[in-house]
Amino acid sequence: MVYLNGDFIAKDKASISVMDRGFLFGDGVYEVIPAYNGKIFRPTEHLDRLQKSLDSIQITNPYSHNKWINILNKLVNHSSNTNQSLYLQITRGTDTKRKHNFDALTPTIYVESNPLTSKTKQELSKGFSAISAQDIRWSRCDIKATSLLANVLYAQDAKKHNVEEVILYRDNQITEGATSNVFILKNNILYTHPTGANILSGITRDLVLESASACSIQIQESSFSLDNIFTSDELWISSSTREIMPITKLDNKPINQGKVGAIWGCVFEYYQRLKND
Ligand code: PDD
Repeated sequence: MVYLNGDFIAKDKASISVMDRGFLFGDGVYEVIPAYNGKIFRPTEHLDRLQKSLDSIQITNPYSHNKWINILNKLVNHSSNTNQSLYLQITRGTDTKRKHNFDALTPTIYVESNPLTSKTKQELSKGFSAISAQDIRWSRCDIKATSLLANVLYAQDAKKHNVEEVILYRDNQITEGATSNVFILKNNILYTHPTGANILSGITRDLVLESASACSIQIQESSFSLDNIFTSDELWISSSTREIMPITKLDNKPINQGKVGAIWGCVFEYYQRLKND
């Protein structure tokens, strides 16, 4: 069952017009929201970010917070999966002809739920590989836009190289991953790119920062270079679907001699506690 424009229907019955601006231009925004044990995780944070994305592209939020929660809960409760990943998309709507500028339209609203399988601590403790690439995306990466061409190409590159993620740099400073935020730990200080137009302000990123005092580390929201990564003690990526993942190899070179660091373990445990709250 999926939600489309007011109706809960079977996925194979859900269809939209070829004149939908989401189809024609990627003119829309989205959210990916996890639900653990039937409970939506950090709904307010995700819906607040959705509001910001909508405001940035001049679409009026079609629903109140409560209405969104009702829709999401209905999908969560209908599914038999214990843990789920909710995908929510709003496009500007269906136009009468293809033109770049827009008039006020009725937005197209789509929500679906997919099973979410989190990796165990044991699986994560093996560490993962990534490659680096120049950040060729536009200058409004804070908008969670459905137009993801650069990210799609990065993901394909990751697949080709059999790595977990592509870590991006702009002007020699690491911004984020193609689908995640990036952190390094050095001498018990955790560095991550500050929020702003060059990164998506990740909900998981905020929770990693929140874990600092519990894990006895300091936070510095400042950018760092590729060279800094290679001399760091730990490298992690974070996202709602991957949680906090340790990266032990970048561009085929080991980080921290290829070993997962101890602080990652602490942050991982902190996040598990939040999930089970
Ligand atoms: N992506 N940065 C980018 C570019 C992302 O695409 C994502 C998440 C994040 C992490 O944000 P959060 O912690 O709120 O999930 C950072 C989602 C999962 C996706 O596109 O599927």
